[in-house]
Amino acid sequence: MKLKYFSHSAFQFTTDEGKVILIDPFLDNNPTSPVKSGEVNADYIILSHAHGDHLGDTLKIAKRCKSTVICVNELANYIIAHDCEAHNMHIGGSFNFDFGRVKFTIAHHGSKTPDNEYAGEPAGIILSTGGKNIYHTGDTGLFYDMKLIGELHKIDYMLLPIGDNYTMGIRDAVKAVEFVNPDVAIPMHYNTFPVIQANPAEFQKKLEALNRKCKIMEYGEEIEL
Ligand code: NI
Ligand code: MN
Repeated sequence: MKLKYFSHSAFQFTTDEGKVILIDPFLDNNPTSPVKSGEVNADYIILSHAHGDHLGDTLKIAKRCKSTVICVNELANYIIAHDCEAHNMHIGGSFNFDFGRVKFTIAHHGSKTPDNEYAGEPAGIILSTGGKNIYHTGDTGLFYDMKLIGELHKIDYMLLPIGDNYTMGIRDAVKAVEFVNPDVAIPMHYNTFPVIQANPAEFQKKLEALNRKCKIMEYGEEIEL
């Protein structure tokens, strides 16, 4: 399986069977994204919440590619009302798709659509595919139940925000990694806007001092998981 980073919280997974799954595809209005929405394809789009920097270009991509959007119920209803296909889920629930399993976890944050409609609770995402468990925390502050998430799931890759202001900053993100205990931590949600400037090398240094692995992904970089 391959993992590609578009910057901010936007990632693309390509399974060995060739299924393409996007998470939080914020591309066209994202000043740091190396690609535009017209350049990506998706069989599935998984959303952590409805804020513009996460919902992003979901409707455009899902319409063009006939993607299924996977998200919490209230946001899924918004997607369906905009003539796209969605699979309604909610926090604590898992479901087996043809590419693997998706589970939604809690996240401490907000969620409203760009039209200011209620979009349910924000979520974290555990994607299990190709024998790996990937935990994309979504936008969240640090919470102690991350320990439970790490106890219940052997997390191979944890994708987590370090940009502060709207989410965890570096100090709390280091604690989050200790709680979840992933094999590798990948920082996200930083340096997209002036208020979320953070130095990923500082995050990496702090983790390495604790004998933990951190992979800083470049914008547009793709790695084999
Ligand atoms: Ni947000
Ligand atoms: Mn955000």
